Amino acid sequence: MLLNWNDPLTSIRQKKTEQGSPAVDVDRFSIMADNPPSPAPALGDAARDAMQHGVTGLEVVEFGAARISVDDKQMINCRADLNQLVPFKYKWAWQKYLDACANHWMPQEINMNADIALWKNPEGLTEDERTIIKRNLGFFASADSLVANNLVLAVYRHITNPECRQYLLRQAFEEALHTHAYQYCVESLGLDEAEVFNMYREVPSIHDKAAWAMRFTQSLGDPTFSTGTPAADQRLLRDLIAFYIVFEGIFFYVGFVQVLSMGRRNKMTGCAEQFQYILRDESMHMNFGIDVINQIKIENQHLWTADLRQEIIGIIRNAVELETRYAYDSMPRGVLGLNARMFEEYLQFIANRRCAQIGLAEQFPGATNPFPWMSEIMDLKKEKNFFETRVTEYQTGGSLSW
Ligand SMILES: [Fe+2]
Ligand SMILES: [Fe+2]
Repeated sequence: MLLNWNDPLTSIRQKKTEQGSPAVDVDRFSIMADNPPSPAPALGDAARDAMQHGVTGLEVVEFGAARISVDDKQMINCRADLNQLVPFKYKWAWQKYLDACANHWMPQEINMNADIALWKNPEGLTEDERTIIKRNLGFFASADSLVANNLVLAVYRHITNPECRQYLLRQAFEEALHTHAYQYCVESLGLDEAEVFNMYREVPSIHDKAAWAMRFTQSLGDPTFSTGTPAADQRLLRDLIAFYIVFEGIFFYVGFVQVLSMGRRNKMTGCAEQFQYILRDESMHMNFGIDVINQIKIENQHLWTADLRQEIIGIIRNAVELETRYAYDSMPRGVLGLNARMFEEYLQFIANRRCAQIGLAEQFPGATNPFPWMSEIMDLKKEKNFFETRVTEYQTGGSLSW
């Protein structure tokens, strides 16, 4: 008999068997009798809660319960066990998890020597170019922490599907890598850490974006919030759109274009390469979010009301204004052949695309893309060694000794 030595259920079942009691009679009530009450909720409460709001994955393990079938699975308000990855229902979510793992990278693999030399050379960059680097490190250094917190403290609990949760866990790790990448740039260039990491509290255009996003994390992270009513499910849908469509899908793009434009002109190529890998991850995050949002809409068609659609359009239009302000603030004059007006056009163009991707009417008719090269960069394959600086061998396993 295989025993898990630290599994209280197994050891209780074994004890009962040794004493001659049938093992199958062990239920959670006899366990509670053997192990004096812990603060675990009574079965009735947990079951009632699961019926009302869907499961979380923290329910009492039901011995001998019926096996899960694909039809039991749901994106939100699922009532079936969440601790079983298979059978897959949403194969696209699993595929995205596999694709994300196949694109693994680490910030230290990117050679920062050219950037360090250029940054330290007083003639190396103009003030406007330095502002672009500092502003974007400042914005992203906290933005990725905000996204990670939103995932693990707010979103994860309410997405009741194991294959989507698997991707969310991978995404959360990637957000940690992104914060690591910004820290690595700051350290490499010898920037003032306090200045960069406090920008979201000290630079108005950065503060406004971070404060805007924080409201949505607070909304879903509220311990008293749970899905299961139309109003609550609409709130979840709205908050998912706020993060995946606006924060990761609009608020990141001025910064990406600015830093990648520098790389295209052979300036700050290490930072640009970091941003390039991050952009590739982010476009996957956004595509995953779009699929989740659309799947929730398919499974819960009553949620996508005219009022909710109008609210989302208002959110997207407001986001375009905030990001345009960020473009003017980080690029007060024209630089690198770019100017803030081009960003305004670009933001309207991508806002149109985001609207179309979730089934809303385009809000800025006729907006065109001034940066067609961006879509090419998003398709970067891992094998492509963009600036020919990557260390390709991983050290995984190197520190293990058996
Ligand atoms: Fe990120
Ligand atoms: Fe992300």
